[in-house]
Amino acid sequence: MGFVNGVPLRHLFFLVSCLLLALRAESTSSLIRRTAYMVHMDTSLMPKAFKDHHTWYSSTIDSLKFNNSGFENYQSSSPSLIYAYDHALSGFCALFSLQELQDLKKSVGFISAFKDSSFTLHTTHTPEFLSLNPSTGLWPASNYGEDVIVGVIDSGVWPESESFKDNGMSPKLPKKWKGMCVEGQSFNSSLCNAKLIGVSMNSARDTRGHGTYTASIAAGNYVAGANFFGYASGIAKGIAPRARLAVYKVSWNEGRYVYDAAAAIDQAIADGVDIISMSLSRPKNVPLQRDLLAKATFGAMANGVLVSSSAGNKGTDGEILQNGYPWVLTVTAGTTDRWYTGTLALENGLSITGWTLFIGNISNYRSLPLVYEKRRFMCDRALWEIPIGIIICNGYLPLSHQIQNIAQYRVWGAVFIANKSISSEIENTQHTIPCPCMIISSRDALALLEYVESTNSPLARMTFHQTVEGIKPAPIVSANALRGPSLLFPGILKPDVLAPGTLVLAAWPSKLKMEKGWRTFYSRYNILSGTSMACPHASGVAALLKGAHPEWSPSGIRSAIMTTANPLDNTHSPIKDNMNNLAASPLAMGAGQIQPNEALDPGLIYDATPQDYVNLLCSMNFTTEEISSFTRSRNHNCSTPSSDFNYPAFVVSRHDNVTPIVQKFQRTVTNVGEGAATYKARVTYPEGSTVEVLPGELIFRKKYEKQSYNVTISHKGNNDGEISFGALIWVEQNGNRAVRSPIVISPAIYPRE
Ligand SMILES: *[C@@H]1O[C@H](CO)[C@@H](O)[C@H](O)[C@H]1NC(C)=O
Ligand SMILES: *[C@@H]1O[C@H](CO)[C@@H](O)[C@H](O)[C@H]1NC(C)=O
Ligand SMILES: *[C@@H]1O[C@H](CO)[C@@H](O)[C@H](O)[C@H]1NC(C)=O
Ligand SMILES: *[C@@H]1O[C@H](CO)[C@@H](O)[C@H](O)[C@H]1NC(C)=O
Ligand SMILES: *[C@@H]1O[C@H](CO)[C@@H](O)[C@H](O)[C@H]1NC(C)=O
Ligand SMILES: *[C@@H]1O[C@H](CO)[C@@H](O)[C@H](O)[C@H]1NC(C)=O
Ligand SMILES: *[C@@H]1O[C@H](CO)[C@@H](O)[C@H](O)[C@H]1NC(C)=O
Repeated sequence: MGFVNGVPLRHLFFLVSCLLLALRAESTSSLIRRTAYMVHMDTSLMPKAFKDHHTWYSSTIDSLKFNNSGFENYQSSSPSLIYAYDHALSGFCALFSLQELQDLKKSVGFISAFKDSSFTLHTTHTPEFLSLNPSTGLWPASNYGEDVIVGVIDSGVWPESESFKDNGMSPKLPKKWKGMCVEGQSFNSSLCNAKLIGVSMNSARDTRGHGTYTASIAAGNYVAGANFFGYASGIAKGIAPRARLAVYKVSWNEGRYVYDAAAAIDQAIADGVDIISMSLSRPKNVPLQRDLLAKATFGAMANGVLVSSSAGNKGTDGEILQNGYPWVLTVTAGTTDRWYTGTLALENGLSITGWTLFIGNISNYRSLPLVYEKRRFMCDRALWEIPIGIIICNGYLPLSHQIQNIAQYRVWGAVFIANKSISSEIENTQHTIPCPCMIISSRDALALLEYVESTNSPLARMTFHQTVEGIKPAPIVSANALRGPSLLFPGILKPDVLAPGTLVLAAWPSKLKMEKGWRTFYSRYNILSGTSMACPHASGVAALLKGAHPEWSPSGIRSAIMTTANPLDNTHSPIKDNMNNLAASPLAMGAGQIQPNEALDPGLIYDATPQDYVNLLCSMNFTTEEISSFTRSRNHNCSTPSSDFNYPAFVVSRHDNVTPIVQKFQRTVTNVGEGAATYKARVTYPEGSTVEVLPGELIFRKKYEKQSYNVTISHKGNNDGEISFGALIWVEQNGNRAVRSPIVISPAIYPRE
């Protein structure tokens, strides 16, 4: 057991940049050298024929099509639009070749164009990816989480990080706060402030980085000029940038960790935190009755504190979803729409965009010879000497092995050729190694090798530090995140939701040595991936919701997050699972991608009281003593045991795959919208199922009114053990709220890798 994910950058996910999509399309058009430009346009000159700026920009770009006369060998496609601005700026960002840029300058309305480096990209871009913005929605409604206290249970904190400064924060601490800033070894209590309001006993000094990183995602303050070796530069901020942080360091000594974590949860409750963020895994193979973490998190729920935890990653935590407690929010990881690219410019004028693996300090590399060995063994084994130039790696070993091998040497540069798709390669490889290195597609590699063989002294130049946003599709569920159901409670959907967990930039202890291949170095920020990174995003959203709706219970907050989650990606198609490139099932992504602004106003919530959770425990044949160890009272009431928990999801658990099954559910929803409302049921049917909802219409006359309904799901059975899934959506009449609950027919033997 241990922290879910952590420093290793093994968990890399499928991302398709708009660039690379454009490049892979139809022709090998990627081989025109294109650079990202921010183009300013005079919108008053927009021809009337266009209905909006976006179509105008697209049309302007399209008109440059097929005019790359220099590259007959490589048919050219259109330069690609990365994104269009309409509010803060007027203009767009797109990739252009020099020729296209010249042509663009003749276009109507053109004002100016600057290279990508001249505009600011936002660090910890994930708040923008989640549509958090200062003008409307959850940020202003919650005052950015002001006076909500987030307890982070992790490896401690690096208090000197700028993410934990208290600029702009009220010095008056929330009244409910009863905790302390406990002094410890290399942790002077003067290091706490109005942002970092408390740390636990012992020394909370973070010597691993994980805690600093997760705390800054959940509630880091604004920091201008953050970046990781030039990537992702911009203003770093947490999801709840004005929330207060209390940090509880838990021990790393094996075998003691669960006790420490349970103690930390206990302390956090006593201190008065509102939300607990816990990117760590439960002990494996411990029955629930003896699981301290289960009991501590149950206690948090009973005290009105929502615990947000990570689903866990394959490799670190085994194959079974870990934190599947019904009383916590379980978060899995997906990609964002941001990627870090590099360019390999061949001396013949062609240019290839790759996926950067580079960390270092050189933004523009000079032209170097391309080193290619026909027998293809070079990157598979020890290098006897370091070739002067950029090594072309297309060995016989899996790419991850080649990368690991090359990372041991101080090479001048390397280009790794993906065997299948870059996406599937990148899943299993370290994405940052200490050399100017990139992965290119096998399609682009053909042109590269053609060039290399066409000349005696092939030369190329690498350029890094290109951060690209607007990548589609996104999100995609990480292949490395653990899948549900939770074996503890197979009838409760887990994970609950998907949140950004891929290549997220966040704070890092500046004096913590990082080791990558041959190199050790230091950085104030780091880019990591995993469900550990997803969890604090959801914790931050929960903190904002708590700020906006202090009266909501932990179950209410979770319900709002789940029923407003989006099952579609940014191309409006079902979110894909990187494990198989098919539509992700709720056992992979829960209800879908969190949507903070929608969660602010969910319409209806599926609430649950601590007694409802007791009823669930009572249905599990535990002894009175065992149940008492959760409720901390011998007087718990087991008169109405029920495994049909008021959860915003429906899971039909099959005992075998062939026999038809009928399962009934009863749910109660609370109207949290203002005033009267009517909702009608709409069902998308899981394959092979019928779903009956009674009544099909719910009429609420006032706020906080409750209504119950019944659902009967029948599944005819199938042989293949496939997961079938759908949804029940309560659609507001004469309004635009939609309260969505996933339906899953969970196979008896669910797929494992
Ligand atoms: C295409 O390129 C040629 C040669 O550079 C140039 O004269 C012409 O104006 C361009 N066409 C358009 C539509 O911009
Ligand atoms: C803590 O820091 C303050 C201010 O920097 C200093 O005066 C004090 O001596 C320090 N205390 C310890 C125990 O180091
Ligand atoms: C980056 O390069 C500069 C100048 O060569 C050097 O002073 C600095 O230490 C380097 N930084 C890192 C992190 O390697
Ligand atoms: C490349 O992919 C093929 C087909 O999937 C596989 O047989 C081969 O082992 C792979 N080669 C490497 C170097 O991974
Ligand atoms: C509880 O015990 C009863 C009787 O022994 C059994 O029928 C039932 O399946 C058990 N329930 C669970 C959840 O184990
Ligand atoms: C236990 O719960 C039931 C149902 O809610 C209630 O009727 C009963 O009075 C409770 N018993 C005790 C001892 O509180
Ligand atoms: C739902 O089911 C319960 C128990 O089966 C029943 O008592 C109740 O009347 C049903 N409600 C509706 C609206 O059908």
